[in-house]
Amino acid sequence: MIEGTGAKLNHVAIIMDGNGRWANERAHRRVWGHVRGSSVVSNIVEEADDLGLKALTLYAFSTENWSRPLTEVKTLFSLLKKFLKKERARILKNKIRFKVIGDIDKLPEETKKLIVDLEDETKTFEGLKLTFAFGYGGRDEIAKAVNKFIAENPGQPITQDAICANMMAPEIGDVDLLIRTGGDQRISNFLLWQSAYAELFFTPTKWPDFTREEFKKIVVDVLARERRFGNVAATDSLSESLSIAEKNKKELEELQTRSH
Ligand code: FPP
Repeated sequence: MIEGTGAKLNHVAIIMDGNGRWANERAHRRVWGHVRGSSVVSNIVEEADDLGLKALTLYAFSTENWSRPLTEVKTLFSLLKKFLKKERARILKNKIRFKVIGDIDKLPEETKKLIVDLEDETKTFEGLKLTFAFGYGGRDEIAKAVNKFIAENPGQPITQDAICANMMAPEIGDVDLLIRTGGDQRISNFLLWQSAYAELFFTPTKWPDFTREEFKKIVVDVLARERRFGNVAATDSLSESLSIAEKNKKELEELQTRSH
């Protein structure tokens, strides 16, 4: 966790947007933007590690992205493969715990194997939790978590804790800061459950132009924001706010019983 005067940050999630427009502005095909964007990914992972973040989740391919031209889809597949091959040694050296959330079923066998092997090799690592959302949709993840719980606990009422525990990567926890590059101000079905109390930051910078320096500046700016989680004063975490809420509710109940 890194702490500022206000917020504390464990988990940062990024919607890496603007690749296509970046390329078009330079009279290139959209896929060129993805190619340039993929080299930015390595820099941002390195900066997240240097900043001491606990988790970084990157939106690399959404369930909606399946509707893009096949050449673009294939380019994204091959960039993921290249990244895995190129960064494997660095991920192992820095004890980064790597995971992919989403549906990787349609990826080529070789890429699937690279993912599964790296997930397996890094699953006990205690460093940065680096998660790629690929073939991912937030609603899909919630529906799958609920169905998994129902299948394993027939007839039991579902709770918020049960949904958290059945997420695709429960260990990454709630998102503290959600950044979107590229100028649009939307969440686009990314980590919907985990972002309930996330600080949001939208930058006009398109992903291929996003730098370690801008990333660090955003993190530092957000660290100065006060987070209240529904309380009136700064509160350390959502769970602290919820436990204060429970305590208050109990006290109110006791007062009501006494006054009857
Ligand atoms: C959005 O830009 C970006 C994506 C759909 C893919 C993000 C992928 C990368 C940054 C590279 C992949 C790298 C790895 C390592 C998996 P857009 O095309 O929607 O941009 P636009 O809004 O300008 O059209």
